[in-house]
Formats: sequence, structure tokens, C-alpha cells
Amino acid sequence: MFLDLHDNPIAEEEQSSWRAHVVDQGWNKFTAEDHAVWDELYARQVALLRGRVVAAFLDGLDLLDLGAPGVPELGRMNQRLQARTGWRCVAVPGLVPDEAFFAMLAARIFPVGNFIRSRAQLDYLEEPDCFHDIFGHVPMLAHSGMARAMEAIGRVGQQAIIAGRGEWVARLYWHTVEFGLCREEGEVRILGAGLASSFGEARASLEDAGIERRRFTTEEATASPYRHDAMQPLYFVSDSLDAVVQALERAELPA
Ligand SMILES: [Fe+2]
Repeated sequence: MFLDLHDNPIAEEEQSSWRAHVVDQGWNKFTAEDHAVWDELYARQVALLRGRVVAAFLDGLDLLDLGAPGVPELGRMNQRLQARTGWRCVAVPGLVPDEAFFAMLAARIFPVGNFIRSRAQLDYLEEPDCFHDIFGHVPMLAHSGMARAMEAIGRVGQQAIIAGRGEWVARLYWHTVEFGLCREEGEVRILGAGLASSFGEARASLEDAGIERRRFTTEEATASPYRHDAMQPLYFVSDSLDAVVQALERAELPA
């Protein structure tokens, strides 16, 4: 029997809360300059990340063919991504409100900006663009463990927002999915999309002696504020990729 959403007003309401933010990617509107900016960012970042990012990230780039020239077309990318983990990306014109964002994640949908930075802003961004959203986030959505973990953080995020505890899940997300580090093959490597997509902070997060790196626990991370307007003074280091997947899958809003 098929699930009829019209018989379930809650599911229908949850869906409409995020569907209103989705737009067409408008891939044909990207100019030759836009595609050249993508290619330059991609080449520079991959060269920087080799040996500094978790192996699953580089695997994801290959599996999704993100190294093909130009800004990825979401339909084509989604064919590969959905076949692997059931995740798909939709285009949005800018930041999505937290409630809609976590509802999307719970449905294995990731929002991607329908624009790319200019060449004059290669290293400075006011809002996440498609390079951050696709290059930074999507490779890990092709990893089965992170695919589950991202759906789980979507569900607990919805609960947190309903409970008026949005900051708790924002910190959890920030210190793992965006700016998390993790141990792999005896080294500390980049996990988070904010680091993987940043030329300056990727290196600094691993190598800057003045930055604190603390072992990740859900309790510590959710108790720790973060900066969204500057480099982080503190990064959380998970014991392994499996450990951060488990932590996110098990995360429960404390009483
Ligand atoms: Fe992000």
C-alpha cells in the first residue's frame, strides 16, 4: 500500500515547510566565467586536500564525477548520488531557515545555492555558494555512514527546533558536519565541509599552532559556541569517521 500524504497532515506540513524554498538550479544561466571559477576552485582545493581530508571525501568526488569541468548540473549529479545513498540535492537561492533545512536533511535532501562566487571573492563568502555546498558537502553524502548520520541530524534538529533548542543542534552540526576534524590512519584529517571548501582554513585547522583541537564528544561540542564570521578558535577531533557517524546517529536532545 502506498503512503498517501494527504491522509497525514503532519507529513504534508513538514514537506511544504521546505518545498517553498526550492528553485530551479538554472544551470544554463551559469556563464563561462562561472564555470571557470568552479574549475579554478576545484583544482586548487583538491591539490590542497590530498593527504589532509578523510579518504571518503576524495572517494565521493570520484564517485559523483565532481571533477568534470564546470559547475555540476544537479540532475546529472543526483542520478549518481541517489543511486548510492538515496540523497539528492535541490537548488535554493540562499540560506534556508533552520526549520526547513533540518526537515530537508531528515528527508535526505540537501539544499545547494544556485549561484557561485565571483573571481574577486574566491576566498571570501557572505553566503554559502554552490562551491561550498556541492564540493564541501556532497562527497560525504555518497558515504553510507555519513548519509545515515546526516538524516539523523535532520531528525534531531527538527526536534530541537520544536523544543526551542535550535542552538544545541546548530553547535552539533557546526562542530562536525561543517568544521569537524577526525582521526584516520594515525593522522588528524578534515571532515567538515566548511574546512574542505576553504583554502585558508583547511590548512590552518590542521597546522596552526595557536588553535585548540579538542577530542569530540557530543556533550562538549553542544556546549561550545562557534564563530560564523571568523576562523574557529576551537576544532573538535573525532576518534574516527565511524565514531562521528555513531555519535550523530545516537545524538539525543538532552532533557
Ligand atoms: Fe555548509
